[in-house]
Amino acid sequence: MKRVAILISGGGSNMVRLLDSMTGDHPARPVLVLSNDPDAGGLARAVERGVPVAAVDHRAFGRDRAAFETELAAHLDAVAPDIICLAGFMRILTPAFVDRYAGRILNIHPSLLPKYPGLHTHQRALDAGDEWAGATVHQVTADLDAGPILGQGRVPVMPGDDAAALAARVLKVEHQLYPAVLRRFAAGSRDRLDLG
Ligand code: GRF
Repeated sequence: MKRVAILISGGGSNMVRLLDSMTGDHPARPVLVLSNDPDAGGLARAVERGVPVAAVDHRAFGRDRAAFETELAAHLDAVAPDIICLAGFMRILTPAFVDRYAGRILNIHPSLLPKYPGLHTHQRALDAGDEWAGATVHQVTADLDAGPILGQGRVPVMPGDDAAALAARVLKVEHQLYPAVLRRFAAGSRDRLDLG
């Protein structure tokens, strides 16, 4: 049984779908939900589901990113995760942290990478007049939003969409994509999954 830790910064809607997917004959189970924000709404949703939680407030470390990540690693190493899922986690991880967990970190990004790494992905897709948008689950490497792609979910951009409307449509496909990719990854598959 693979042990999964999930890192969040906010409401954790992707985290909830991942937690709720790891049942029955699923080859993984959650062992920790960890946030950089002690007030993250997702922490309460994990507690409701009986999953251990922890928070390391990145603001307490100022610019000392290494010290913050040392704290994160202590919480992670205490539960010995086989897989770490970033789910709405909004801190950039240093190459040292990524190397420590090389090959075991997944992230979901709200664009069809390699298009639009970084922030404001939906507005950028609208500004470019793209017909399609979506989300990508990829392995995390030292280069931001650039690791090997494990899956993508595609949605149409509709006339009259603003960033909020597009974000809501993309989030729905995120909630299908991430659990499906995690299940395959936990089962040892690295085959790419494409939805929509
Ligand atoms: C989502 O758009 C996700 O792609 C991004 O963070 C946003 C919020 O995710 N990584 P969640 O609701 O906190 O899971």
